Amino acid sequence: MNKNDIEQIIRKEIVEAVMKTQDFLIIGNWKMQKTKQEVKSFLKDIASHDFGQKNKIIIAPPSPYLYLFEEKLRYSNVLYGAQNFYPKESGAFTGEVSVDMLQDFGCKYAIVGHSERRTIFGECNEFISKKVRILIQKNITPILCIGENLNQRKNEDYKHFLATQISEGLQRISQDDVSKVIIAYEPIWAIGTGETASPSQVEELHIYLRKFLVERYGSNIGKDIPLLYGGSVKPSNVKELALAQSVSGFLIGGASLDAKSFIEINNILN
Ligand code: PGA
Repeated sequence: MNKNDIEQIIRKEIVEAVMKTQDFLIIGNWKMQKTKQEVKSFLKDIASHDFGQKNKIIIAPPSPYLYLFEEKLRYSNVLYGAQNFYPKESGAFTGEVSVDMLQDFGCKYAIVGHSERRTIFGECNEFISKKVRILIQKNITPILCIGENLNQRKNEDYKHFLATQISEGLQRISQDDVSKVIIAYEPIWAIGTGETASPSQVEELHIYLRKFLVERYGSNIGKDIPLLYGGSVKPSNVKELALAQSVSGFLIGGASLDAKSFIEINNILN
C-alpha cells in the first residue's frame, strides 16, 4: 500500500466519523418555482420518508403553498419556513405577507437577506435588520443570508463586507437574541451557477466568520450560532463541503426541488 492509499483510507475514516457524529441543518430554498401539483407530489414523497433524528430538515416554499405544507406535514418531522415577508404586523401594504400570517400557517423559520432580495429588490442591511427584529419578536427563526459577488471577492476587504452584513443585519436585536439566529454564507458567484466554492474556500470563510461572531457577540453565543453554506450544493459535493470546519449545514436551492436529491443529501449527511 502506498502513501496515497493510506492517506485516502484515513480521509475516508475521518469523513465517516464526522458524518456519524455531527448533526446538520438542511434547508431547501425553492425560490419562485413549482406548480401546485408538483408541490403535492413532492410533499407526498417526503411526508412518508423517514429522515431520521440526526439532521434538521426545513423547506422554504413560495408563500401560496404554505397551506399545503401545514396540511401535509402535520405528522412529519420536516419543518418549513418562508422565503419572504414584510416587517409589519398588518396594514395597508398591498401585495405583502406579514409575519403573523406566516405564524398562522405554522412557519418556524424565515429567510432574510438572500442575495436575490438584496440585488433584485433592493433590500439593504437596514431593512433586513427590521425583518430580523420582527421575526425574533414573533418567535420565528431568522436565516440571515450574507454573501459577496465576484468583484467584491477580488477585493481583500470582502471579509469585512460579510462581517458588516452580519452586524448590521443583527443591529436591532439584543445580544441574547443573536443566539436564536442562523447565518447562511452564500457567495453570489456560486448561487445557481453550478460553481461551488471549494471546501477550503468555505472552511477559510467559516473560520473567519466564527472568529468574528465570537469576538462580536462573546464566546458563549458566537461559538454556537449555526453557520450554513449555500451555493450549488448537491449530492455530489455535499460530503466534502460538510467536512469543512465550522459548517453547520446547507441552504440548498436547485437540488432541493427534487425530492430524490433532497433525500439523498440527507442520506449522505446521516
Ligand atoms: P443554489 O441556490 O443551491 O441553486 O445555488 C442556493 C440559494 O440561493 O439559496
